[in-house]
Amino acid sequence: MKNIKKVIELLTISLVIAGIFVGCKNIDSFSREGSKGGLPKIGVAIYKYDDNFMSYVRMLMEKAAIGKAALNMNGSENDQAKQSEQVDTMITKGVKALAINLVDPKAAQGILDKAKAAKLPVIFFNKEPDASVLAGYDKVWYVGTNSAESGILQGKMIAKLWKANPGWDKDKDGILSYVLLKGEPGHPDAEARTKYVIEELIKEGIGVKELAKDTAMWDAVKATDKMDGWLSKFGNKIEFVIANNDGMALGAIASLEKSGYLTGSKFIPIVGVDAIPDAIEKIKSGEMSGTVLNNAKDQGTAIIDLAVNLANNRNLLEGTSWKLENNKYIRVPYINITRDNTDVADQAYK
Ligand code: GAL
Repeated sequence: MKNIKKVIELLTISLVIAGIFVGCKNIDSFSREGSKGGLPKIGVAIYKYDDNFMSYVRMLMEKAAIGKAALNMNGSENDQAKQSEQVDTMITKGVKALAINLVDPKAAQGILDKAKAAKLPVIFFNKEPDASVLAGYDKVWYVGTNSAESGILQGKMIAKLWKANPGWDKDKDGILSYVLLKGEPGHPDAEARTKYVIEELIKEGIGVKELAKDTAMWDAVKATDKMDGWLSKFGNKIEFVIANNDGMALGAIASLEKSGYLTGSKFIPIVGVDAIPDAIEKIKSGEMSGTVLNNAKDQGTAIIDLAVNLANNRNLLEGTSWKLENNKYIRVPYINITRDNTDVADQAYK
């Protein structure tokens, strides 16, 4: 009798644990609110969760989806093979649309082949695939920006700041000597920002000298390392730090602060791209000179608006005010941010 009681007890405990697991899995794979309300399932993959900017896009997508969709959110850990498996799993789980931030833009075709086979619509975002790949499927679109625009705007901003602050030309040679922190090589944003910022400076009539340029993979810690090396090599010869994103600009600031810069007269101007809240704080305190707003809220909202329409078999733009370019693209504009308009950036991250 005692034994039977024990067995029943153990069985009950196992069932409860199993129930918790099943419950968790449900909550885990599809957002709780969406699942409860029987909303359409949308599969999302973010190339990696520990990317500063993408963590805001993700959060704002989740916010935009409340009451509209059940999201199955996946972090792809910067591994394209993993992301491709995640897409297979999402299709098996019965999602009605896919929203994919590719790890490798060149993998777009492979993802589209899977989507086509399952007759699913796809919204790519943040990492732009080749136009020819998008042209090959009538149910795929891209939400992002015009990469070149961020480089051009950053160039205009640097030119304006440089002209307004003659003291920044430390050796008085009339030439802006810079170091440049590049994002991930091959990433459309990294390539375009690196090219166009310098082209724009030259267009603005500013003489430039590149002391050093290297990738820090969008990453603050890697940027601190790079900047440590450049500071010990070039020291005060550096007249500008140009970063492809704010994460790396913040990394450069950490390096400069360590070496006693950014206080009193030991100043080197730094600019980035994104306008994430941490960078805005640095702009307010004067340690960073400017950034280019990459509007996380508009991009996150546009991705969800489009995916929700598709998942409900509605027209792509129904009930929205997004403008479609060349039948395939929603491009959210960039905006320059300096001390006098930080409020514009605040709105784009909450
Ligand atoms: C860029 C952004 C970077 C990084 C990258 C990831 O648009 O400026 O900070 O998030 O996307 O693909």
